[in-house]
Amino acid sequence: MKTPRFLLPVATAGVLALSLSACAGGGGGGTSGDGSDAEANLDSRGPITYVQGKDNSNVVRPLIEKWNAAHPDEKVTFKEQTDNADQQHDDLVQNFQAKNADYDVASVDVVWTAEFAAKGWLQPLKDKMAIDTKGMLEPTIEAGSYKGTLYAAPVSSDGGILYYRKDLVPTPPKTWDEMMGMCSIAKQNNMGCYAGQFKQYEGLTVNASEAINSAGGSVLDKDGKPNLNTPEAEAGLNNLVKAFKDGNIPAEAITYQEEESRRAFQDGKLLFLRNWPYVYNLATTEGSSKVKDVLGMAALPGKDGPGASSLGGHSAAVSVYSDHKATSLDFVKFLVQEEQQKFFATQGSLAPVLGDLYQDQELVAKLPYLPVLKTSIENAVPRPVTPFYPAVTKAIQDNAYAALKGEKPAKDALSDMQKSIETAGAGS
Ligand code: GLC
Repeated sequence: MKTPRFLLPVATAGVLALSLSACAGGGGGGTSGDGSDAEANLDSRGPITYVQGKDNSNVVRPLIEKWNAAHPDEKVTFKEQTDNADQQHDDLVQNFQAKNADYDVASVDVVWTAEFAAKGWLQPLKDKMAIDTKGMLEPTIEAGSYKGTLYAAPVSSDGGILYYRKDLVPTPPKTWDEMMGMCSIAKQNNMGCYAGQFKQYEGLTVNASEAINSAGGSVLDKDGKPNLNTPEAEAGLNNLVKAFKDGNIPAEAITYQEEESRRAFQDGKLLFLRNWPYVYNLATTEGSSKVKDVLGMAALPGKDGPGASSLGGHSAAVSVYSDHKATSLDFVKFLVQEEQQKFFATQGSLAPVLGDLYQDQELVAKLPYLPVLKTSIENAVPRPVTPFYPAVTKAIQDNAYAALKGEKPAKDALSDMQKSIETAGAGS
């Protein structure tokens, strides 16, 4: 599997990197202050709290019940956040800054690992706190690591999927142009053609990056430098801009997060939808779903063939401020066990992190899309890996949004994106 170079803070990131390493202390990166928080409470057991974004697929509660039944003195309480990735991030930041001992185990989006680890908020998962990563997909391990140390245990991966209406489109499009060509079918059926997530939040960074990568461009070059002033990047962003302009993406999609776009598709209002694998479960089981028997799943469309998804997913990390780290670690280990991974897959259609499960006959029989999903994850492009990610994603979101709203030509939006990423201190 190819391992792209990630964006890392280096030389010209000077001031920011320096102030950051000063607060990260001790040269190792990831120890807090003098490192004492990371040394404390390693053997301590007792009740803990697990913090995660909205449990759209209702898989967390049953697992916590199972855990609690077996661990009456080490019960887990579920703190459920909203369904917006940026709000989840900000909530974690506030509670880590406040050294809140009640945020024992947190679900960490793949794009937050570097920032949280560099700030010293996550317990390094090594030595006494080590977990077994054998059999996990390599990109998921990398996504939970920072500077070679694992800080967050991979729990679920995520790769973008093109959902389509099998009844109306017998063969899914392989390229963006082919898909746009099929929008006449949507018109004939009085429905919107395509949507993804275009609200100004992390989902837009995902979708804009996919548009750029799928058109042959790249957000970062192979040395990890921003690479947005290219005709390919412009063509990619313009695919979305044009589709908004001509109505192939319905105007209301500018307000869509994952859930709004899922509902539109499930209500029969869209021919094509870009979303994560969790949609499969809800779209095939919810009583109100109009697409139950006509749900197709394919790779995202690209320029001359399949496109490139952004790599998504979540890992579980132990807070350095947890009072009960032995329990926290055991709960993390429980989440990544094969049994729980299978439950996530069969009940919530979440993407397993254990590679073998994609070949598991019982699972593949139940979830026939697993091979498509594995390909999506293997070819997925990570978003920039940097402790300065909040500024980087803001640069992408703000400028992509302005382009989609028609407030800036794609070319200017990309050149502003490039400049802002460089200013974020991560662009050298
Ligand atoms: C999904 C992905 C995550 C991404 C988010 C954006 O939850 O797993 O990586 O950042 O969507 O909305």
